[in-house]
Amino acid sequence: MSHTSPPVPLTSRAGAALKGRVAVPGDKSISHRALMLGSLAIGRSHVTGLLESEDVLNTAKAMRAYGARIARDDDGGWTVDGAGLGSLLEPEEAIDYGNAGTGVRLALGLAGTHPIATTFTGDASLSRRPMGRVLEPLRLMGAEVVARAGDRLPLSIRGSAAPAPITYRVPVPSAQVKSAVLLAGLNTPGVTTVIEPIATRDHTERMLSGFGAELSVEVDDAGARIIRLTGQRELSAQTVQVPGDPSSAAFPIIAALIVPGSEITVADVLLNEHRTGLFLTLQEMGADLTIDNIRETGGERLGDIHVRHSALKGVTVPAERAPSMIDEYPVLAIAAAFASGRTVMQGLEELRVKESDRLAAVAAGLAANGIAHEAGEDTLVVEGRSGQIGGGTVTTHLDHRIAMAFLVLGLASDRPVTVDDGSVIATSFPTFQDIIRDLGGVIDASGEQAA
Ligand code: S3P
Repeated sequence: MSHTSPPVPLTSRAGAALKGRVAVPGDKSISHRALMLGSLAIGRSHVTGLLESEDVLNTAKAMRAYGARIARDDDGGWTVDGAGLGSLLEPEEAIDYGNAGTGVRLALGLAGTHPIATTFTGDASLSRRPMGRVLEPLRLMGAEVVARAGDRLPLSIRGSAAPAPITYRVPVPSAQVKSAVLLAGLNTPGVTTVIEPIATRDHTERMLSGFGAELSVEVDDAGARIIRLTGQRELSAQTVQVPGDPSSAAFPIIAALIVPGSEITVADVLLNEHRTGLFLTLQEMGADLTIDNIRETGGERLGDIHVRHSALKGVTVPAERAPSMIDEYPVLAIAAAFASGRTVMQGLEELRVKESDRLAAVAAGLAANGIAHEAGEDTLVVEGRSGQIGGGTVTTHLDHRIAMAFLVLGLASDRPVTVDDGSVIATSFPTFQDIIRDLGGVIDASGEQAA
């Protein structure tokens, strides 16, 4: 499944207060990893709460092409039958990864140490994104790559029959790069070491340990995480419960904060410390946001998040917090538009290489809706509203989070907001519109809008 469906313009408008209790679909990062590790483990893994979005279904399709048996049960759970490390078969056709950066980068890691050839393709968004960041360490491990200029998709990779373990210092704060090297290390003899100077989401490490991998994490004096994985140790099948995705929860949460009179609960949200930077930032902005029912399942913390409409104030979000909220800046910019004073966001260089150049896409969307802001190379400053806002049409550039962020804007702005293509939301949050509607928000196909 590739994200090539015709564009579906959507329009959101201000309406009643948002009320109710909802659960967002499973975490995207954990869902990809559960299917991949299940496919490499010996035996049958069970996954509940899997995110059934285009990106994750592309990983299911990819792992099937490599020989795993993956099925959805009648009760909505998924079973994954793996055949053990080193078991990947050569796919008969190119693997089309659609819009899914995480999926393809992690799959490159797996493919990079199996002596088989894989060709990966993707949609226009994914074909613009840099793959060199994962190909560089995989080449050091012995993989051969045929790629067009700039290491972009489409590309082909052939893993070495005798991969070499490496010690790799991750040059950019990226969980995808870290994870690709660790997954490559699974089928590599000896110890693969990843040094991560700035901590990023650690779902790969946690899940690898859960599946029985020999993995250790040490923090050095400079605060860098040193992750050591001993390769060629079989993984054993597990049961994985996928908690709700905090990056998806961000949209109804911010909608409730900015729509007057709102009060909602988002249940069962993942609270991994490397993912909760947005919630801390919102609390600093004065949000009435509380978390309870905190518990742990499958090595991850989750809880219920309660939010009420709040008078927000602008804050400075420091660069070091960026990895823990990297996907949340588009929607934080919307919250900032409703805050008093200015919100300064620093350390945003990685936003340039997401599903779109998110810094440019957010700035253009703010401009289209009359929101004063200033975008630098790696900073964004948003001024809280001083006059009427909304009324613009936003170009989504095949980026689900740009689409959802600006639909949230329209729920609280003076005039409706249109996004040029809402179909791309299906890559990560297929129930977004239903959940906003269940809470009382108004999002229509643009053709249906009232005059
Ligand atoms: C992800 C890592 C992040 C994030 C992406 C999911 C992951 O990307 O933006 O949505 O699951 O590892 P980077 O590793 O490029 O920062």
